[in-house]
Amino acid sequence: MTDLKGRAAIVTGASRGIGKALASTAASLGINVAIAARQEGPLKETADEIAKKYKVQVLAVPCDVTKLEDLENLVNSAKAKFGAIDILINNAGVSSQYPFEKQPIEDFERLAHTNYLGYVRLIRLVINDMIARKSGAIINMVSGSTLCDPLPRNFIVYSSLKVGLRAFSKGLFWELRDHGIKVTSLLPGVTDTDLTGKLQEITTDASRLMSTKAIEDALKFALTVPANVCPLEIAVINQQTPWTAPVIPYKQAHPEK
Ligand SMILES: NC(=O)c1ccc[n+]([C@@H]2O[C@H](COP(=O)([O-])OP(=O)(O)OC[C@H]3O[C@@H](n4cnc5c(N)ncnc54)[C@H](OP(=O)(O)O)[C@@H]3O)[C@@H](O)[C@H]2O)c1
Repeated sequence: MTDLKGRAAIVTGASRGIGKALASTAASLGINVAIAARQEGPLKETADEIAKKYKVQVLAVPCDVTKLEDLENLVNSAKAKFGAIDILINNAGVSSQYPFEKQPIEDFERLAHTNYLGYVRLIRLVINDMIARKSGAIINMVSGSTLCDPLPRNFIVYSSLKVGLRAFSKGLFWELRDHGIKVTSLLPGVTDTDLTGKLQEITTDASRLMSTKAIEDALKFALTVPANVCPLEIAVINQQTPWTAPVIPYKQAHPEK
């Protein structure tokens, strides 16, 4: 997408963590942002902070991405304020870390609605306007855990939904390419946010956590590549996370030696 200044983006899960970092990155490129999360207080604080720092228009829309009526209100509010939505950054997500047999059964629905269905529904709500304008960018927050096979222990419901999201996003890339719309998945490794605050064995060693910087750079890259190019997926993995180590040891001897 050329000339990002004055464009409009929706960013979900943007009151803190990676979403806040990505909304700030978009704003730093001159993009007006409609930011969404459930809790109004922190969302408003973030909106004020971004508007003050980057001098762009920021709209805070309280929204629970598990509710269709909230997603509709988010899209309608952003369109009323900005006229059109050029970029959708689908980021809201929740985690639930348990051995499967101990995972609260009510978590499944919340995870599926937030981490998968919320993404698909929101894209469906913005896509027809983008198709009519033959322009737009969709960024989906997937996860580096989808690169692991088998999926990391204690994360299999979360990660399998992200695998589904990754597959959906890949398929969408090809479908929407013909309409001039770009679709990119971001696959971050373990990042220092509230979501990973309780991860044992990782948060005890700070070198195993990434800051949001690499993900911010990935977003900038996705939004600023030439018009006829689109990164399908960008994975940024921290070097020390044990899960993302390759299955074949790195120092494997060369077969001819
Ligand atoms: N941190 C990591 O290591 C990591 C790695 C790979 C991928 N990711 C993905 O990155 C995304 C952001 O994660 P994070 O680490 O930044 O998490 P975080 O710090 O916990 O922030 C989550 C954000 O999403 C919002 N949110 C949660 N449920 C929501 C809902 N139902 N409706 C609307 N907003 C909701 C939260 O605000 P409210 O609570 O006020 O709604 C908050 O703004 C997630 O999709 C996550 O799966 C994270």
